[in-house]
Amino acid sequence: MAAEKVDPVLKERCKDLILDLDTLREISRRFLHDVDKGLRKDTHATSIVKCFVTYVQDLPNGTENGKFLALDLGGTNFRVLLIELSKDHFEMRSKIYAIPQHIMLGSGEQLFDHIADCLASFMKQEQVIAETLPLGFTFSFPLTQKGLTKGILERWTKGFNCSNCVGNDVVQLLKDAIARRGDIQIKVCAILNDTTGTLMSCAWKNPNCRIGLIVGTGSNACYVEKQKNAELFDDEDKGSGNVIINLEWGAFGDDGALDFIRTEYDRDVDANSVNPGRQLHEKMISGMYMGELTRLALEKFTKEGLLFEGKASDALFTRGKFYTKYVSEIEGDPAGVITSCRDILEELGIYHATDQDCFNVRYVCECVSKRAADLASTGIATLLNKMNEARVTVAIDGSVYRYHPHFHDLMMQTISTLVNPGIKFDLMLSEDGSGRGAALVAAVACRTQQKG
Ligand code: BGC
Repeated sequence: MAAEKVDPVLKERCKDLILDLDTLREISRRFLHDVDKGLRKDTHATSIVKCFVTYVQDLPNGTENGKFLALDLGGTNFRVLLIELSKDHFEMRSKIYAIPQHIMLGSGEQLFDHIADCLASFMKQEQVIAETLPLGFTFSFPLTQKGLTKGILERWTKGFNCSNCVGNDVVQLLKDAIARRGDIQIKVCAILNDTTGTLMSCAWKNPNCRIGLIVGTGSNACYVEKQKNAELFDDEDKGSGNVIINLEWGAFGDDGALDFIRTEYDRDVDANSVNPGRQLHEKMISGMYMGELTRLALEKFTKEGLLFEGKASDALFTRGKFYTKYVSEIEGDPAGVITSCRDILEELGIYHATDQDCFNVRYVCECVSKRAADLASTGIATLLNKMNEARVTVAIDGSVYRYHPHFHDLMMQTISTLVNPGIKFDLMLSEDGSGRGAALVAAVACRTQQKG
């Protein structure tokens, strides 16, 4: 951080955004406690970190092949994909469709009709409308799985809030919507979380891959656990002896476990979300909230006269107007350079910022993004220590990890500090987990089904 150029008064006021090592260790301790609770049969129901069993047991071995469809719902975009896997090779064609806000907040029937509509139009375009292809459904919300093709929605996150879905099997909701149309046939082979897809996509080439992480619109992680520790796993088939656990770590803190570090900005973001009191860990980490957290701090410091001589613009004082991508852009300038910061402030209608203002704004961005990286790193280090394997690759995807210029380095640093001696790890950008990963889960499912 270019902290030396930052106004010391403002720096002091940012202190509540900084987590020291002891604090991270305490968070790690609390998180581990919640993970263990989620895994155990007798405590699962009351656990905040759910540790859902995914029923994905076998990792890919590179021999998967065939033609697959995939659906990807849960980030900023909804995508339909057609994937062809062959040994060491994969080809993918995809199309992005918008999910308008009225559908995100409408009825479940509307949402799934829209999904089926997009799927049919894509199949037509790709000339596979007459085929019955296997499909992997990346559905990135908390699901209690009852098998590889059955997932009960526990709650919506990330701005979605469709009625009549919570408590229902989303694979069935999809099948019903397809049946209502009557013009396409599919075979749903698997429903999976984006973290699982990310892990699988990386494991295809990298056998050390054992953890999947998303730092995008939302945040969550999954990891490979021994079946005997996943007490809710009830499949007869022991497969590899392992099973992927979808932690749903976004909910960590919903019982107050993170209250000792939450700031007034966190409380404000939460109170103004569609799911107040929920996903509190996610709200401190992910891209859906990072810009707004920064804006709230900038607004406050302006009103206190610490920025822009106390006068900013309507935009800076308007909810949602400071985008998360601004944080990445501002920190993307080399230390001491303020070109992007100036451009962004002008976009927001602030033309009178001094160089000192720009250094200060950058510092606020750095505090918010470093805190996010520290929290994600604490979760990952906790898992690495728990798994206690000599070498683990962490597969990561999501817009924040991908586009923030220092997120990877910040995470490397913090995990290195927290991980037990002797454990080696690396962090790898996982390409297209929700697409390729979904096809791989479907393919592995087909392979094992054929075997059995
Ligand atoms: C969802 C997770 C998902 C994560 C990242 C969270 O809001 O609950 O299921 O993995 O976002 O997309």
